[in-house]
Formats: sequence, C-alpha cells, structure tokens
Amino acid sequence: MRVYCVIGDNRVVNSQSPRMHNSVFAERFPDSKYVTFSVDQRNLRQAVNGIKAFGIAGANVTVPHKEAIVHFVDGLSSEAETIGAVNTIVPDGDTLIGHNTDVGGFNDLLEFANFCSEGSNILILGAGGATRAVLSSLIGRGSYKVFVANRTYEKCLVLTQKLGGIPISLEHTSDVLHDVDLLVNTTNVSSFQEASGMTGIMGIVTDRLRRLKLIIDINYGRDTNIWSDMAALNKARFLDGLYMLAAQGRRSYELWTGQTVPIDDYLRPLGL
Ligand code: ATR
Repeated sequence: MRVYCVIGDNRVVNSQSPRMHNSVFAERFPDSKYVTFSVDQRNLRQAVNGIKAFGIAGANVTVPHKEAIVHFVDGLSSEAETIGAVNTIVPDGDTLIGHNTDVGGFNDLLEFANFCSEGSNILILGAGGATRAVLSSLIGRGSYKVFVANRTYEKCLVLTQKLGGIPISLEHTSDVLHDVDLLVNTTNVSSFQEASGMTGIMGIVTDRLRRLKLIIDINYGRDTNIWSDMAALNKARFLDGLYMLAAQGRRSYELWTGQTVPIDDYLRPLGL
C-alpha cells in the first residue's frame, strides 16, 4: 500500500482532498490511499521527519502550515522558493522537495472563469500561505493594480515587498473597492461571525460596485457566504475554492505520479 496525506491542523478533517484523490487513486492506483493528519505547529518538524520514516509517497500541506513547512523540507522548487509557501511535498530518494501547485491551480481557476486579469484592478484579502500563491499568479498575469489588505497589516507589507502589489489597510479597502474588477478572499473568513477587523469591507456588501465582475472565495463548503451575497448584490459572478482545490490537487498528483489526469476526474468527486 502506498500512502499519501495532507497535513493541516484540526480543520483538516473538513478537507475534501481525500475524497478527490482517493477517487482518482481508486481508478488508477488501487493500492494507494490518501489520508489526513492533524499536526500541531510545534510538531511540524517531527511530522516532516515522519513522512520520511513512514515512507509516505507524497503529501499536501494546508492551513496553517504552508509557510512554516518551507523550513523543514530538504529543498524547494523555484516557485515554492520564490513565493515562500509549500502545498505539495514530493519525496526524491532520501530527500523531500517542497512545491507549490496553488499558483497553477489559481491560474487554472482564472482560465476556467474566463477572467482576463491583464490590466485589471484586483483586491486580495489576506496575507497567509494561500495569499502568496494568488498574488504571485495575479502579478505574473499582468494585472494592473493588485491591492493586498489583511487584519495584520505588517504581513501585507512583507508579502508585497517580496512579490509585488500594493499594501493597504483593511479600513481603506472601501476606498479602492469601487475600482476593483476582481475581489479574492484568501482569509479563512466567509461570514460576519468569523470576522475580526473585516467588518468595514463586509459593511459595503450592499453597495453597487460597478466595475466588480468576479468574487473568488478560496474557501469552500460554507452554508452561508458573505462573498457570494456581495457578488449577487453587485451582479458579479461568484466562485468558491472548489475548482482551485481540484486544479491544485491534479497538479500535485502529476508531481507524485508523473501522470496527467483530466480535470473532470478531479471535479467529479467534488460534485462539480
Ligand atoms: P493559509 O495558509 O490558508 O493562507 P493562514 O496562513 O493561516 O492560512 O492565513 C490565514 C489568513 O486569514 C490570514 O491572512 C489571517 O489574518 P492575520 O494575518 O491577521 O492572522 C486571516 N484571518 C484568519 N482569521 C481571521 C479573522 N477572524 N478575521 C480576519 N482575518 C482573519
């Protein structure tokens, strides 16, 4: 049996990654199994050693470990090194190499949405591991202005100094929102109840944002979603994170197995 896994914190039990990867493995490699591991931040180094010790065939990394794990793998792909976040670990002999398939996954999502980012104004909320991939993708695609706002403003500064974009405080998001074509939520927050420091932007949910064409929330599986409400009220399109989940998962699978799988094989188990 070959074992693959995703490493996260206690929220990893809600991950849809096992569902989609196990569906693809069942078709193509029936002796492979994909499981979740909830790992406390303090034990991350030991968890990475465990991947080696147990001979795990490949791993994903999810919230909140994507940035911290950079320090514990043996090497990084150039993309993971540039953005400073890892979502995929590929064993190579005795070493573990960290990759990032979120950038490609987000590119796939934009293409699926038929959204032309070149020359567009964009507001990204968040400054975590997933934000790095989204920002890197959008800068690479020639977006005009990419604003980055986050509860902890200093993290926006660090991120934009490294990758580009314009840092703004959450309180000032309402100043730029009227000129934004795309809003991407990369925080964990998809409802008023979860928010802290974000009520400003959530308060303008009922405004008419004339330029707004698309809102992407990289979260998925939420019963109510403030970002989808905001899109509906402004006649913009809304996409949650399920397509990106499938697209980055498909890219991880390709790194682990060398096989390219049709995106539909990853979408189907997610009900898409
Ligand atoms: P990921 O790897 O998925 O990006 P992460 O690195 O833990 O996850 O990042 C979570 C993001 O959500 C951060 O931008 C975080 O803001 P801080 O940098 O201020 O912590 C944001 N976030 C999480 N909970 C939040 C909340 N209740 N209100 C506002 N922002 C929140």
